[in-house]
Amino acid sequence: KRYAVIMAGGHGERFWPESRVQRPKQFLTLVGDRSLIQQSFDRIQDFMPPEQILVVLGQEHLALAKEQLPALPAENFLVEPVGRNTAPCIGLAAVHIRKRDPGSVMLIFPADHLIQGQTDFQLCLKKGFEQAADSDYLVTIGIIPSRPETGYGYMEREETSIDQTTPLVYPVRRFVEKPDTEKAREYVQSGHYYWNSGIFIWKADLILDKMELHLPELYQGLLQIESHIDTSQEATIMKSVFPNLPRISIDYGILEKSDRILMVQGDFGWDDLGSWESLAEHSKADEMGLVIHGDYVGIDNTNCLIQGQAGLIAALGVHDLVIVQAGDVILVCDKNRTQEVKELVSLAKEKY
Ligand code: GDD
Ligand code: MG
Repeated sequence: KRYAVIMAGGHGERFWPESRVQRPKQFLTLVGDRSLIQQSFDRIQDFMPPEQILVVLGQEHLALAKEQLPALPAENFLVEPVGRNTAPCIGLAAVHIRKRDPGSVMLIFPADHLIQGQTDFQLCLKKGFEQAADSDYLVTIGIIPSRPETGYGYMEREETSIDQTTPLVYPVRRFVEKPDTEKAREYVQSGHYYWNSGIFIWKADLILDKMELHLPELYQGLLQIESHIDTSQEATIMKSVFPNLPRISIDYGILEKSDRILMVQGDFGWDDLGSWESLAEHSKADEMGLVIHGDYVGIDNTNCLIQGQAGLIAALGVHDLVIVQAGDVILVCDKNRTQEVKELVSLAKEKY
């Protein structure tokens, strides 16, 4: 059987102040008229029934997620008492899936990405599912890189595709998570490296075997959780075991250490939507390069993203800025430095 797992536990701090602890990026409507998690769900629901879609998220966002995804059965929300990064998140989903339907293949999908082109997206996933079924390959979706981004994982592919029809499928020679700028430049120039999209397909059993091998402490904890699923002890065990699982991402914990990785070349539009700047790039700008949401008046402003929830934003003679008003916070930021907003968040007082 096929399952999809939507990972929705991130904080999206770079979209502060629009994103707050109570409403992180995946629950915001940043592009289009549905929130990012709703768009992710819609995309998957197109070829998989809701019974086979799981959402893994933090307790504090459960109510919001239920409200935004009314079609998802209540038992398909898997709640983490605290986030421990993506390896425990995926491990938790894998033991639940293994329990429900042994031998299943799981698609892992980040809640907060922007994807364009549903047909090509589905073709890639179809190919990925075919490669992952009955195989001991970890299947990833690779994206042709367009800049030396250091916030992504990179995959070096072998010369030739193992499949003659598009989308192409390459064995991965090397997986490198978040390289430094110099390395990232080298990779992009080589033409052999792809970005890791963070979308994965593999058998639940296979990823648990890899965890047993590379993250034995995590694996032991997951076994304990697994043996209590659907018992009266389940909630207690989750609260005592999960918070103590090692805090590690699937990329550092498993992918960097594994051979037998395949990469389906993702021929669809993809963006991690990692910052205000990337959001501006995906929004419609006017002839002055302004992207405006909310009430605005201005003279001689160029190339700005201006967004407000309440009241008027008035600007005069400014360029290359991000100005965002949300609740009781106003952010004013150089458009080229929006990656650093999360450093501001840590400076701002708790209540913001
Ligand atoms: N449930 C849950 N619990 N979800 C989580 C947790 C957690 O503890 N931590 C992260 N997530 C979710 C995030 O909401 C996001 O959708 C996804 O998992 C990936 O986590 P990020 O924290 O955003 O990872 P990243 O962007 O630094 O790096 C990953 O994604 C890149 C592409 O966007 C890596 O896989 C990179 O290799 C990849 O290039
Ligand atoms: Mg991310």
